[in-house]
Amino acid sequence: MRQHTGIRAMIILVAFGVATPLVLAADVSQEVMTKYILTTVKAFRTVYAKGVVEQVKKAGVKPNENWTKDDHAIMLPAQFVKAAGAELKEFELGLIGLTPIYKSNLPKTQAETDALKKMMANPDQKIITFMDGKEFKGLAADFAIVQSCADCHNQHPSSPKKDFKQGDLMGAIVVRFSH
Ligand code: HEC
Repeated sequence: MRQHTGIRAMIILVAFGVATPLVLAADVSQEVMTKYILTTVKAFRTVYAKGVVEQVKKAGVKPNENWTKDDHAIMLPAQFVKAAGAELKEFELGLIGLTPIYKSNLPKTQAETDALKKMMANPDQKIITFMDGKEFKGLAADFAIVQSCADCHNQHPSSPKKDFKQGDLMGAIVVRFSH
């Protein structure tokens, strides 16, 4: 009897010893992967906003929401991220804000709202990852890196916030894994 208890305890210990690092490894890699995706999307977004948009402005070409109807317009930085997201099947990629121009860009769940509020309260925290029910998610801070980010949002008729300044945290890039 005693021996059995000992063996059972040993089996449990071994099982935990093997399983725990595996579980941890799975969690860590998803977190690391999410961070890599977010930093990469952010880098491309920055290059688009600072490189492409600013450069073509010199030739009179401007970002415009209805860019497909205007030969002298290119897509908005937000549309650039959303268009890339539309190409992806493996996970969801988008852009959210607490004071968005369109309500469709509000956080989708309470957990996303809480994470974005946490980031707004402490903009030094540039990436947050979290579990939202069964979904693993990540947010990357989206700052008004050029004056035109703030200007366009402040002037947009549908924007509920009219006092963005350059450098402000405007929202976040979001990545959602459904499994
Ligand atoms: C010329 C206008 C314009 C410029 C410039 C612009 N935006 Fe936007 N932004 C918009 C519009 C319009 C949307 C909504 C687009 C959509 O969802 O189709 C949007 C969406 C967003 C969102 C999602 C939340 C929301 O407000 O809907 C964030 C965050 C955001 N922009 C940040 C930025 C940042 C940061 C920059 C500068 C790098 C920037 N924007 C430049 C017009 C602009």
